[in-house]
Amino acid sequence: MSWEQAKVNAAKAALSEVEGYRVVGVGTGSTVEKFIELLAREGFSKNQLYVPSSIDTALKLSRWGLLVLDPGSAPEVEVYVDGADEVDPELNMIKGGGAAMTTEKILAYYARRRVFIVDQTKLVDKLGEKHPVPIEVLPCALAPVLRELEKRGFKAAPRYPGKGKAGPVMSDAGGVIVDVHTGPVSDPEKLNLMLRSLPGVVETGLFVGYADVVYVGSPEGCKALTKARR
Ligand code: 5RP
Repeated sequence: MSWEQAKVNAAKAALSEVEGYRVVGVGTGSTVEKFIELLAREGFSKNQLYVPSSIDTALKLSRWGLLVLDPGSAPEVEVYVDGADEVDPELNMIKGGGAAMTTEKILAYYARRRVFIVDQTKLVDKLGEKHPVPIEVLPCALAPVLRELEKRGFKAAPRYPGKGKAGPVMSDAGGVIVDVHTGPVSDPEKLNLMLRSLPGVVETGLFVGYADVVYVGSPEGCKALTKARR
């Protein structure tokens, strides 16, 4: 048993959430990858249409022979499944470890039901404890946004890939991914609104009130955390 198994256990729990639906939104990341693998083996998946949150997820879905739609022209997403980097006791989340949070937030916001799958290591008391908050910034606003964040007391820097690309990580839509080091966040909604208020900031990785259910996998099994939808 391992933490890989914890991701699989969370992913398995999401299978029953999507059965019977026609249009399924699919997030990005390694836990979602497990979900896609399990899904592809389910007979019902051949009758479903998948709306991916990233090019990476679109490619993974197609490799398994699953039908992929363009998020910008797809019908309403009935159920959306995604991972997260941190989840607090209110089920608020930090997302964007895969730089896909803008499309992820669009899909999650407009979906009828939002299901998140994480392993136990993602649970925190306060968001920002382990991860910076990613934001997507238009390239033409990068330097002013960084200066403004510094003035407001935040350490923020464009995210750089390990190797294989010169320059910062860009989203699929062409925004620069900036990691904002906040430390533990006392009011995620307030921070989200402040970051969103800066011209040139397209979106943030703070997902406040987005989760209908979070399946938390452990090496032994999985538990469901729920909270009323806002
Ligand atoms: C991508 C995300 C992912 O859902 C998040 O980074 C979790 O990924 P993983 O399942 O690999 O831990 O937000 O933008």
